[in-house]
Amino acid sequence: MELDEICRPVSEDLTEVEVRLKAAGEVDSPGLSELLDYGLKGGGKRIRPILVLLSGRLFDGSSDHLMPMALAVELTHLATLVHDDTIDNSVVRWGRPTINTLWGSEQAVLLGDYLFARGGELTASTGNIRVIKLLSKTLMIITGGEVAQARSAFNLEQTREHYFNRISGKTASLFVLATESGAALAGAPEESIQILQEYGNNLGIAFQIVDDILDFISSEEEMGKPVGSDLTQGTLTLPGMLLLEQYPEDNPIKKLFQERGGWEYITRAIDLVRNSPIIDQCFDIATRYHNRACRRLDQLPDNEFRQSLYGLADFIITRRK
Ligand code: IPE
Ligand code: IPE
Ligand code: MG
Ligand code: MG
Repeated sequence: MELDEICRPVSEDLTEVEVRLKAAGEVDSPGLSELLDYGLKGGGKRIRPILVLLSGRLFDGSSDHLMPMALAVELTHLATLVHDDTIDNSVVRWGRPTINTLWGSEQAVLLGDYLFARGGELTASTGNIRVIKLLSKTLMIITGGEVAQARSAFNLEQTREHYFNRISGKTASLFVLATESGAALAGAPEESIQILQEYGNNLGIAFQIVDDILDFISSEEEMGKPVGSDLTQGTLTLPGMLLLEQYPEDNPIKKLFQERGGWEYITRAIDLVRNSPIIDQCFDIATRYHNRACRRLDQLPDNEFRQSLYGLADFIITRRK
């Protein structure tokens, strides 16, 4: 199913999110306004605000509470991307040059800081201490995940446990923020909030596994960002780990990491992964997390929002961008 169709029950809310995102760029400072104007026009999928809205509407939450939070999680997400692209030296996202490419690292760091702060302000405006604390905790966890990833660059001694800890920190934590805050702001029962935390965490892990698979099998046209970028940055993800395990002899990733570079090794690694059972194995693992995410959804109220949560989980596995 297309994402638009999955989100139909919250489509009006999502239109409002777009309006408010645009308004968030209208500030009384010419330099900042230029950065925000560009930074907020990237055109992401809005998965995280969708999660806030579905998790909150599922329990009849009001838009007065959900809208600022939906906006806050998207601004936080955008902030992490601006910083992530700066750290990763990424040149292209959403099919256009990144902020760090156009304005340099200093301006990118500052734009990211501003977006984090704006996300914090919006979260605080809900007056809900639980979600305010959760946002801070999430930012600490994401930072830990990104630090761990940067420190493990070009390191061959990594286990799957390292990988899952990292992606749980850098990606799934923000998914949990989205689902937990939506449900909490709607006054959902604690048992249901827990089910949605579990959903967010497992969905986030599945999402990042798929992102890491797409970095091997997709194309820049489809993704809007270059493929092969994880290996270029020395980041070992699940497909690469399986390649090291299953092809220990004359392995291009081993050479790439030992020599800290070499485009021919990256091309060979991608080629090997594409023509092996590894991609299917990675999708199987992502599907396991998809199933874990959905395992207890049947205990939530049976309505169109719950149906969309199932649909979104399927979308995350089958997506190609
Ligand atoms: C990109 O997330 C960063 C990862 C966690 C892999 P999205 O794919 O959700 O980013 P958008 O849709 O471009 O905003
Ligand atoms: C996702 O990591 C960034 C964060 C969750 C902060 P990646 O580095 O894998 O994301 P892309 O591939 O640049 O979108
Ligand atoms: Mg990156
Ligand atoms: Mg990636």
